[in-house]
Amino acid sequence: MTEMNNLIDGKSVATDIRQEVKDAVEKRLNAGRQPGLALILVGEDAASKVYVNMKKKACEEVGMRSLIERMPAETTQTELMAKVEEINNNPDYNGLLVQSPLPDGLDEDAVVRAINPMKDVDGFHPQNVGLLTLGQRRFVPCTPLGVFELLERYNVDPSGKHAVVVGRSHLVGMPMALLLSQKARGGNATTTICHSRTKDLGAMTRQADILVAAIGRPEMITADMVKEGAVVIDVGVNRVEDSTKKRGYRLTGDVAFDEVQPKASLITPVPGGVGPMTVALLLKNTLLAEEYQFAAKISS
Ligand code: GUN
Repeated sequence: MTEMNNLIDGKSVATDIRQEVKDAVEKRLNAGRQPGLALILVGEDAASKVYVNMKKKACEEVGMRSLIERMPAETTQTELMAKVEEINNNPDYNGLLVQSPLPDGLDEDAVVRAINPMKDVDGFHPQNVGLLTLGQRRFVPCTPLGVFELLERYNVDPSGKHAVVVGRSHLVGMPMALLLSQKARGGNATTTICHSRTKDLGAMTRQADILVAAIGRPEMITADMVKEGAVVIDVGVNRVEDSTKKRGYRLTGDVAFDEVQPKASLITPVPGGVGPMTVALLLKNTLLAEEYQFAAKISS
């Protein structure tokens, strides 16, 4: 079989975006403005440590200011809220995110509500979720925004198409469906949201011109569930045991890649598809945060 060239190269697009952000930061630095991102990490979750360090490094690479506030697992809600408030009021940091998941006993929703919505580069604050729902985008969560950018850069116009999003999380599925269905460029799809209670999932996904899998179940989307010529976006990052690997596991998506690839017109691999886009879009959101705050400052 000849090698198929229907891959969406998220790594390469993410590199382009990071360069674009770097150029934009350089211009602002020349005007005495340095965008900054503060990251709060509570506890010792191993994956969270990796993510937070990766985000800080990405900031440094594009010339942004960045800070990791590390707090112990025993941190109280009051202490965490005070830290959020401190950064809300620190003009050096335009963006603020609290890495999820938080240790047991901390109220994540309350923490998100305490973040200054103009600094909410994750796009998780109810105000930003509400604005997205109304078609008045301010901050959109980075992963669905990354998918949106991939579709745009690969000239996939969702207008009039049937988009099926599998997964309804606040991080990915729900904002993804909102972006795809909004009345704006890159939107205008007829959008279906599927989830764990959907009956006959395959009957739904087979209707998809654009299929977004964000379920968190390894290789759940099989070839028989995909329409010939569909654009398949795999947001899943699952660890599955693999004794042939030195680390004892491999990463796999929510899509059974090998069997689905021949049916798809375009498909994202795991890793190297959606994953690298998330950090790139976080940088872009931080740039946007600085712009909003700068505009507010000069108009006050
Ligand atoms: N944990 C996993 N993904 C994310 C994310 O996008 N933002 C935050 N704050 N925590 C996460």
